[in-house]
Amino acid sequence: MRTHKCGELNTQQLGETVSICGWVHRRRDHGGVIFIDLRDRAGLVQVVVDPDVADTFAIAENVRSEYVLKITGLVRVRPTGTVNANMHSGAIEILANEIEVLNESETPPFPIESDIEVNEELRLRYRYIDLRRTAMQEKMKVRRDVTRTLRNFLDDNEFFEIETPYLTKATPEGARDYIVPSRTHENAFFALPQSPQLYKQMLMIAGMDRYYQVVRCFRDEDLRADRQPEFTQLDIETSFMDENEIMEVMEEMIRQLFAKVINVELDAEFPRMSYQESVSRFGVDRPDLRIPLELVDIADDMKAVDFKVFSAPANDPKGRVVALRVPNASDLSRKDIDELTKFVSIYGAKGLAYIKVNDLAAGLEGLQSPIVKFAPKEVWDSVLAKTGAQTGDLIFFGADKATIVNEAMGALRVKLGQDLKLMVGEWKPVWVVDFPMFDWDEKSGRFNAIHHPFTAPSCSVEDLVANPAAALSRAYDLVLNGTEVGGGSIRINRTSMQQTVFGILGIGEEEAREKFGFLLDALKYGAPPHGGLAFGLDRLVMLMTGSSSIRDVIAFPKTQSAACPLVSAPAVVTDEQLKELGIRLIKPFGKEKVKQD
Ligand code: AMO
Ligand code: AMP
Repeated sequence: MRTHKCGELNTQQLGETVSICGWVHRRRDHGGVIFIDLRDRAGLVQVVVDPDVADTFAIAENVRSEYVLKITGLVRVRPTGTVNANMHSGAIEILANEIEVLNESETPPFPIESDIEVNEELRLRYRYIDLRRTAMQEKMKVRRDVTRTLRNFLDDNEFFEIETPYLTKATPEGARDYIVPSRTHENAFFALPQSPQLYKQMLMIAGMDRYYQVVRCFRDEDLRADRQPEFTQLDIETSFMDENEIMEVMEEMIRQLFAKVINVELDAEFPRMSYQESVSRFGVDRPDLRIPLELVDIADDMKAVDFKVFSAPANDPKGRVVALRVPNASDLSRKDIDELTKFVSIYGAKGLAYIKVNDLAAGLEGLQSPIVKFAPKEVWDSVLAKTGAQTGDLIFFGADKATIVNEAMGALRVKLGQDLKLMVGEWKPVWVVDFPMFDWDEKSGRFNAIHHPFTAPSCSVEDLVANPAAALSRAYDLVLNGTEVGGGSIRINRTSMQQTVFGILGIGEEEAREKFGFLLDALKYGAPPHGGLAFGLDRLVMLMTGSSSIRDVIAFPKTQSAACPLVSAPAVVTDEQLKELGIRLIKPFGKEKVKQD
């Protein structure tokens, strides 16, 4: 139908007659001459329709935004003064001979402009129109480039792309399962995979050596800007490689990815940091290293002060007291600080004490704060020295259970880094390593796996049993600018260790056999040492395109309530379908629709 794409045309085609197809982006009537900006995936081109060509002009008079046209015409230079240097085709225009209307369009629900704010629900309902916007087309292009580059790298490095089932059994990755009733097996359900974890391990046992898959994962969990109920992993597993070898290959892949797709040179070697150090310095296990602020422990100074809020957690083994110095921030107003206090309360903090260092040389007189009165000068001298405070700084304090302090002060650090524009550098990757194997869940009174239950510990079975709380795992997360973009581990490849870990997690023998008997069996038949990881592909593309949500880099994402407003899913099913599946609803819905948002 066409000889060229709209956005491809430039002075190289001068004097040629070309045919192009696309959507009417804009139509302007300029006193007898009609201009049409025609748009396709490659971009825009300006078409001029002269009244001399009467038939064509008559058609042009009637076209509206988003009509689909085929235009044949002559490529000519634009008159001086009308050249648009920002457009690839900005030096030329097409003088139309013929216009064919391939299809009409109703007025779209919102303009096809990248920089116009449109309600997200509306965007998702008309996603096929939203995706016409240049910004969205560009994101989809980066996504295509990302998967292509990753696939090329892995293909070149002898990884096999192998598909694993979507209709399967529960895989524990910490979320709820999406389940699918089976018609052929009464009262039985499939689970959609939270990840292909156990299949990829069995592929290693099967001798596939190196595997990858660009694969959809399904997790019924609370949604956030970087979480979707179905999302895409680049899932990887290898045999006979230890964690250092795996991290090295993956680092090289990510470096090539950034260089090829967005022309960014990442560090020649990504730094590594222990979980312990990350939590201690930044409050989280996914530190944003662009922010030059750190939590400093001051419990030792606060044990004996006359301020229960600080002294109680300072003397509690599960408590934590920290200071967070913010350089040159003593001009934050009372109102600013009140707002930050409200912000940390979301994370359970009961307050946000502070000291404004108005004059470091002036001793206590130079400190402005509601808490200075609670402790003698030596205490504050020590705190100021530990934080490295200077005149003009503001120091915030957090005191509570360690988990609350970490969450609240970690989030405060990120907020201040962003709000006060303190970021240094653009891309800061870091491997977080030496995670604990388990954390203790107070509520249920048992251990949870910090990664998944198939992660190998770095100690023996005996040491693990003797002190599970102290055991470290052979897991690693890749964190980029405060987002966890990937994570994995060396796996358990012996039945005895796997059974021990299940035991510590409170999964009894019978339950283990019922849920994971196939794995325990498989481990008996020569399971090689193996390990791997999975990257969140949507998160990588989100960061690489500077998007604020993964919804922006997924063609058809779900809303915050895990629904698709475009096709109205999830939806009711017929009584016949339910009957066939042997399902009776507790609350029959009658004829009313499922709420979408
Ligand atoms: P994990 O659960 O850490 O590991 O997932 C790997 C990566 O997937 C991304 N991710 C998500 N992205 C969008 N929406 C979600 N709901 C979501 N959940 C996770 C994150 C994360 O780093 N089987 C293991 C991997 C392994 O051990 O090899 C796993 O799934 O970027
Ligand atoms: P109060 O004596 O309760 O008014 O608290 C004095 C200061 O300590 C106020 O600035 C509070 O915001 C702050 N504060 C209270 N509880 C905490 C806490 N758990 N961590 C940090 N600061 C706190």
